[in-house]
Amino acid sequence: MSISKEIFQKALSQIQQASLFLSKEEETWALQQVILYADEQYYIQDNPVLADGEYDQYFKQLQALEKANPTLIHPNSPTQRVAQGKSAQLNAVQHIVPMLSLENSYNEEDLYAWDKRVKEILKRENVIYSIEPKYDGAGISLVYHHNQLVVAATRGDGVVGDDITSNAKQIRTLPLYADFEKEGIEQLEIRGEVVIKKQVFQAINQQRIEEGLPPLANPRNAAAGSLRLLDPEEVKKRGLYAIFYHLSFVTDFEDKNHPLHQGHFESIQWLAQKQFATPVKEMHLCQNIDEVIHWCQQYEVQRDEMPYEIDGMVIKVNSFQDQDILGMTAHHPRWAIAFKFKARQATSQLLDVEFQVGRTGAITPVAKIEPVHIGGVTISSISLFNEDIIREKDLKINDFVLVERAGDVIPYIVKSIPERRNGQEKEIVFPNLCPVCNTSLSKPEGEVAWRCINANCAAQVVERIIHFASKDAMDIRNLGDANVKRFFELGLIKNLEDIYQLPFEQLQGLEKFGQKSIDNLKEAIEKSKTQALHRLIFALGIRFVGVATAKTLARSVHHLLELKEKNIEDLTALEDIGAKVASSIQNYFSNTENLHTLERLETLGVALAHPESIATAASGADALAGKTFLFTGTLMQLKRKEAEEWIESKGGKILSGVSSKLDFLVVGLEAGSKLDKAKKLGSVKILDEAGFMEMMAAF
Ligand code: IVH
Repeated sequence: MSISKEIFQKALSQIQQASLFLSKEEETWALQQVILYADEQYYIQDNPVLADGEYDQYFKQLQALEKANPTLIHPNSPTQRVAQGKSAQLNAVQHIVPMLSLENSYNEEDLYAWDKRVKEILKRENVIYSIEPKYDGAGISLVYHHNQLVVAATRGDGVVGDDITSNAKQIRTLPLYADFEKEGIEQLEIRGEVVIKKQVFQAINQQRIEEGLPPLANPRNAAAGSLRLLDPEEVKKRGLYAIFYHLSFVTDFEDKNHPLHQGHFESIQWLAQKQFATPVKEMHLCQNIDEVIHWCQQYEVQRDEMPYEIDGMVIKVNSFQDQDILGMTAHHPRWAIAFKFKARQATSQLLDVEFQVGRTGAITPVAKIEPVHIGGVTISSISLFNEDIIREKDLKINDFVLVERAGDVIPYIVKSIPERRNGQEKEIVFPNLCPVCNTSLSKPEGEVAWRCINANCAAQVVERIIHFASKDAMDIRNLGDANVKRFFELGLIKNLEDIYQLPFEQLQGLEKFGQKSIDNLKEAIEKSKTQALHRLIFALGIRFVGVATAKTLARSVHHLLELKEKNIEDLTALEDIGAKVASSIQNYFSNTENLHTLERLETLGVALAHPESIATAASGADALAGKTFLFTGTLMQLKRKEAEEWIESKGGKILSGVSSKLDFLVVGLEAGSKLDKAKKLGSVKILDEAGFMEMMAAF
């Protein structure tokens, strides 16, 4: 049930104008259409049409209306995705048709051999193949009955899977309802893959690292694990995406097999019309096996450009009639084969484990392995995150281990290979004392990491300084890891304040540190004194305060030290700050040593207030409060990230798409559809780069 743009626009203007004049039915209908269209554009077309806040507001409005008028709930209403609470366990589901796996091929010869077998069975030379990516996620089966999604299940052992209907409903590319009956279909089963987009996966891991949790190993495990979570609300946070590539079973009202299409390609196009996310854009019909091989090679080269992990290609005989003739073995269909890309896994030997002390004192075990090459990179060192992981993976020194490096994901040890043990293996002993300062380690209740609680531990101090100077923090170029360590060892920088009283004359004569390096460092340190306030807050390394939280905190004050006046209630009232983060912020600002550091930094010239509010107190940090901006096209003079940061430092907000909530569209070169859309809306003020720079100068 696709919503047209016209219906969306009409419904949106109805709810924006005066819901007072709409009947409850009309208002519910309009909200449902707006949210369904926004979901489709966001999740399937990658084209956000509503800002997050706006979307949430409409969603809540719809929930309230439906709660008061249950008869208005349509089975496809977006609110029906909302889960029914936690389940104690997952129930077993018998698949209507067994979920077979695919035969694998690894090279051209394998594909030629498969092509030969197919032709022999079909007794013909010309066979048309359809090829599409092999998504590296978790298989899923959906059953629709009378247009409604009734069961979603995992693959399980292929015969019986787990009922994950509540969780699957959290996946917005998965229609809860589709018009199948119109075409005489009573029941059908659709197969697909649940994946996590690489970008979303990285964001989840970033967040986990900030919260002191070990990152999830890879998008495949993360997708599979997410589907089996018992709390659908947690599933929602994982931003899952599902792609559907197979119709396994279709019956009409007489319970007969319902032949819908001639072939696979057509059937997937049909699913796409029914609003399922499918591989249509990545599918190719091939007239012969050489064309198939061409696409396999092409996709192997460009696999890293895909938004989600793919580990190969799937080649399917396109005609359903041919598929029937080819049939199945006990394990896989004869009409399909997977072409697997070169492995990103390798075995290596675990030589040693080092224990590193992080900025917050957390002890991270790091595996030193016999160097291995995976996908063009040599790996010799791999983080093991915490003690539990060593135990879970049953790792011992001298073990052979399986190492994986997927796409953009950091390498990790998948498992040990106990079968290859020969008695030379040694237990990994976690230290009781900090390997740097010898303080006893402790493990706070509910945490996974052992910690050194000595805030003056040399390792922590060095890591704090490195973090302070890093790119997303104060961005002091030339003060990278190596130089911080060197200056620390020489006693030139012992704490954050020392950065701003560095005795440059003593740097002269240091090996590989010429006058040019000294001048550059001086300039970068000077520039950092007026960095945006949120960068300074992030730079302080307060536990659980990542870039996003730092921005929220910066927006809430004019001067950094105002944060010491905020209590837990004030802090949790801020966007996305929970009790744990609030208490960490409060701890930081009630520590006299930290306050002393901040005062010293200010004395040394570091701005603790928004730089603009120092210059023109009148404009203040709220000058753009409530105003929304979006950039489109290429900016010639400004860096988009910096321009966006400037807006946020003034209390403005960046939207992700053009909508009636947008106040300013800043247009660079070669602006496209966003500009057209803004012009059509008429309410958006359009600025070119020069106009925007004038605005910056005025504030
Ligand atoms: S077709 C009867 N197409 O790979 C054939 N499977 O190793 C049904 N997979 O269990 C499968 N991408 O979970 C098919 N484009 C694709 C796929 C795909 C990923 C998974 C699927 C299957 C596994 C086999």
